[in-house]
Amino acid sequence: MKFNTNKYLVIGASGKTGSRVYQKLHDLGLDVQGASRNGEIHFDWQAPETWARALLGVDAVYLTYYPDLAMPQAPDDIAKFCALAKIKGVKHITLLSGRGEPAAQVCEEIVQTSDLSNTIVRASWFNQNFSEGMFHNFIVAGTIELPVGAVGEPFVDVDDICDVVVASLLDERHNGKLYEVTGPELLSFAQLADIFSKVLQTPISFVEVSLSDFVATLRDQKVDSHVIDMLTYLFTEVLDGRNAYAVDGVEQALGRSAKTFEQFVIANQNHFGRGSHV
Ligand SMILES: NC(=O)c1ccc[n+]([C@@H]2O[C@H](COP(=O)([O-])OP(=O)(O)OC[C@H]3O[C@@H](n4cnc5c(N)ncnc54)[C@H](OP(=O)(O)O)[C@@H]3O)[C@@H](O)[C@H]2O)c1
Repeated sequence: MKFNTNKYLVIGASGKTGSRVYQKLHDLGLDVQGASRNGEIHFDWQAPETWARALLGVDAVYLTYYPDLAMPQAPDDIAKFCALAKIKGVKHITLLSGRGEPAAQVCEEIVQTSDLSNTIVRASWFNQNFSEGMFHNFIVAGTIELPVGAVGEPFVDVDDICDVVVASLLDERHNGKLYEVTGPELLSFAQLADIFSKVLQTPISFVEVSLSDFVATLRDQKVDSHVIDMLTYLFTEVLDGRNAYAVDGVEQALGRSAKTFEQFVIANQNHFGRGSHV
């Protein structure tokens, strides 16, 4: 057990990782509260006056930033948040970061030099983008249409990320560690489509589209302009091959291997029925 931790705060507690970390801590009988714009504790990155109340009495924080640590205001927000957390008596922060993003690494360094105990969990792209995120509709429609070529990405299962995060919140041997967490295999989007087709026994294809067509579709769908900018950054800069290798951060942190993408699709088949909604 860590620092006699009594109270945990999960920021982004309705999100893909936040919801699971919250549930796991809750199931362990720990005192945890969830924060976000619509959460049990109101917390908004764009309204710093909401931060102090969320930190009242909190010992350890699972920190997720939205939409991405690569946003221009993120370093300033993270620095201010860490300073406030220190004043409020927080002892530990575990930060969720993104792999291959220099701008996110600036935020990692802010947490690492914050004078708080910390763990950085630097993740590859999530499997659950297909079951709970913006790629879900592609599977329902039967075609993954993205502005990406044959580059491989070692998609990671959010359950693995969350096991690492929870371990870091409970056990001080993870203090000061940076875990780069990926899935065990490098897969192109065409290969992901093949795995969906095989497991779901229905054809799922992959089509490379131009960035301008992709952005136009997002605009038609009224996606927030910050999110469009973030996706443009991810598809043009981050998915350029720099992350095209798998690493063993899950194994390092937990002593077990990471889940494969096929295991994820098999376990989540009920999410992918055509016409279904998550
Ligand atoms: N998705 C990936 O593949 C991936 C990979 C590596 C790293 N990451 C990182 O993971 C983080 C989460 O990304 P995600 O896309 O997967 O989202 P997510 O965690 O599934 O959902 C976003 C969460 O943040 C909350 N939120 C949204 N705007 C907020 C605001 N202004 N202030 C406070 N909370 C806010 C939402 O709740 P409310 O709506 O109630 O506010 C929700 O709980 C990002 O930092 C991203 O860079 C993602």
